[in-house]
Amino acid sequence: MDIEKIRQDFPMLQGKTMQGKPLIYLDNGATTFKPKPVIDEIVAYLSDYTANAHRGDYDLSYVVDTKYEQVRADVAKLINAPNPKEIVFTYGATDSLNLIAEGYAKTHLGQGDEILICVAEHAANTLPWFKVAREVGAQVNYIDLDETGRVQMEVVKRAVNDHTKIIALAHVTNVLGHVLPVKEICDYAHERGIIVVIDGAQSVPHMPVDVQDLDMDFLVFSAHKMCGPTGVGVLYGKYDLLKETTPTRLGGGSNSRYNSCGVVSLKNPPEKFEAGTPNIEGVVGLGAAVRYLMAIGMDQIAAYEEELRAYAVKRMQEVDLVEIYNADAKMGPIAFNIKNVFSQDAASLFNKYGIAVRAGQHCAKILDEYLKVSTTVRASFYFYNTKEEIDAFVEVCKKGDDFLDAFF
Ligand code: ALA
Repeated sequence: MDIEKIRQDFPMLQGKTMQGKPLIYLDNGATTFKPKPVIDEIVAYLSDYTANAHRGDYDLSYVVDTKYEQVRADVAKLINAPNPKEIVFTYGATDSLNLIAEGYAKTHLGQGDEILICVAEHAANTLPWFKVAREVGAQVNYIDLDETGRVQMEVVKRAVNDHTKIIALAHVTNVLGHVLPVKEICDYAHERGIIVVIDGAQSVPHMPVDVQDLDMDFLVFSAHKMCGPTGVGVLYGKYDLLKETTPTRLGGGSNSRYNSCGVVSLKNPPEKFEAGTPNIEGVVGLGAAVRYLMAIGMDQIAAYEEELRAYAVKRMQEVDLVEIYNADAKMGPIAFNIKNVFSQDAASLFNKYGIAVRAGQHCAKILDEYLKVSTTVRASFYFYNTKEEIDAFVEVCKKGDDFLDAFF
């Protein structure tokens, strides 16, 4: 991968500063920068081919329909979904998870049933399950993390019982970053008729994900964490499961007919879930992002990020004041603290040096039950970050005395 050439594609990587220092962006777990082809595609929709999708009988609307459906095919290719009709466009990973909980779980779970998650899950993969469980009389229970913060297959096997109906876990968690043994979990779950929901918000942007090989039932992810725009996401579901899922929003585009008595015929998936005018500029932007990532190669992206992360861990471990909570994770962010410094104060000081990191609980508010610290600083990388940026970041980590002097 030619990182210098890749960086030229990103306007946000061209001479931007923060606090008068060159901007170093290490908050890619929150959102990512957008390359020119993505920006150009969105601008082209807004300036050159604006029309609604699936509603017009004129040439311009046909252009939009074609481009919109091409994105479905491109997303299917990215995750190796067998059928583009298994790709539903939503407003983000959170929206997709809410749709599965409300539209699938609520009609398939009842009193005494169990949903298994773990304490490292993002709020988006926790709160919708709490709500549905409360409404149908089911329970949310937890698969314990091992001492390194991983979900181990043996622990999954011990946690599963006759009441388990859904296992919902992140492929790569947004703080600890460990890669879930998805294939083994799906094999084990399917032998017992359990549905597996995978939050891919932090995996799909960073590594090859093959839904057929891994055999997951549902997979969700967001465009904005993979070089695309905000406000658009994906729900992949096996087609039979999507047919059994009830839409949570109704309106134009999702029905084939209805009458004044209230009799409604819904379309098949994916259309039945896409009521109302969709986020068309978002979808075409997602398409450009997917094509951009595939042109680089997801294998290459994963290999480079793994190397970058290992380098960052090694350099950070040279600094006594740094305490890392997930040094041995292969992928994902590095969660750490500067000893004796509140995480948000540390983030403010990184900011002073032009470095963007996230601090706090990162929307994973029960992870402290495992971590035993209430908040952390999180550095998260993408394929456009460099070792030079990490060196600059480590130099700030070394300024431990500044941190301590500033606050004590
Ligand atoms: N889910 C995003 C994060 O982890 C916002 O930062």
